[in-house]
Amino acid sequence: MRMVFDKEMETQEIWAVGNELARWFGHDGKTARYTLDDSHMEHIVTFHDPVLVTDNALIARLADSRPGPFTISNYAKERGITGSMLRDSVNRLMEVPRRIIEYDGTVMDFDQSRYDGGTPETQVWGPSYDTLFLCKALGMIDLGNAKNAAELGAGSGFVSMYLMDHLPDLERMVSIDRMALSYQCMLDMKKQGNYNKWDPVAADAMDYLKGKNFDLLVCNPPYIRRPKSIDDNPYEGIGMIADLIENSDELLNDGGRLVINISSLSGDLPYELLDVYGRDFSEVLKKEVPLKVFRVTNDPEWREYLIEHGLDTQSRRGHDYWQEIKVLEIRK
Ligand SMILES: C[S@@+](CC[C@H](N)C(=O)[O-])C[C@H]1O[C@@H](n2cnc3c(N)ncnc32)[C@H](O)[C@@H]1O
Repeated sequence: MRMVFDKEMETQEIWAVGNELARWFGHDGKTARYTLDDSHMEHIVTFHDPVLVTDNALIARLADSRPGPFTISNYAKERGITGSMLRDSVNRLMEVPRRIIEYDGTVMDFDQSRYDGGTPETQVWGPSYDTLFLCKALGMIDLGNAKNAAELGAGSGFVSMYLMDHLPDLERMVSIDRMALSYQCMLDMKKQGNYNKWDPVAADAMDYLKGKNFDLLVCNPPYIRRPKSIDDNPYEGIGMIADLIENSDELLNDGGRLVINISSLSGDLPYELLDVYGRDFSEVLKKEVPLKVFRVTNDPEWREYLIEHGLDTQSRRGHDYWQEIKVLEIRK
């Protein structure tokens, strides 16, 4: 499946690619009936004002008779793929582990099944809404002529690819994740474009950074507070945010920047630390999005804790739990 977000993140196009057209949309291949190469692709639907990469509530609306925040493609209309068939076909595409994700010229061909160690601690974090949101903010900031940059907690490496695609003066892009599979994923992604300056590293980010300096640090960190957090998975705890704010002056070159995602669920600590350390910062972007992390919302203790600490429980757009994600720019 190919997924294309426009630069403003106002639209999300869903495309079926290659074999998906053969298997589920009735296109026969030339040599074998269910085999088509990736040069074949068809636009299926465009969602408007997306708030998630996979929004099941929005997809369900494709079967409604009322109009919804989506545009059905001519291809789907001409083939009579509407209503429940459209909904089920898009759901089927969303289940495909391989996704080609495009945002503002950066393209990643990511197959989740290759980078899935079976637990949250070992499953590579594929490009998500907050990943692209951080890229959107980076596209809005004047990053000057940053020459060396580091991404902390890089996951698939999408944000690093975005930086290499958009910063012509960049000479070195270091992307650190402590997950071995993430390192492997980035080595694979490096082959997908002109990414010679890319230097993936498997390490604890703060250990690795000690004694080093960068013009630009970017981070989509774990940002959800949890009682007795042990910071051992991609979304839990805010230790990395705190470490980065505390150490940003030491890690940045003069004129450098730290650009980082936080959330209303990170609590007040990030702002308290920004104040204590006297950091010069601004909020570049913010947006309310559903909290769709099953491990969090399906854990009664964690859920209750977050409800007491600012989780928005006003149900809307088919989602019961909401947070506000924000991108901060911290300047030295
Ligand atoms: C929310 S995911 C973001 C991944 C990617 N940057 C993105 O935006 O798609 C956070 C990532 O941080 C990594 N991580 C968490 N703590 C870390 C640490 N102390 N050192 C290195 N990586 C860490 C996790 O393994 C995970 O891949």
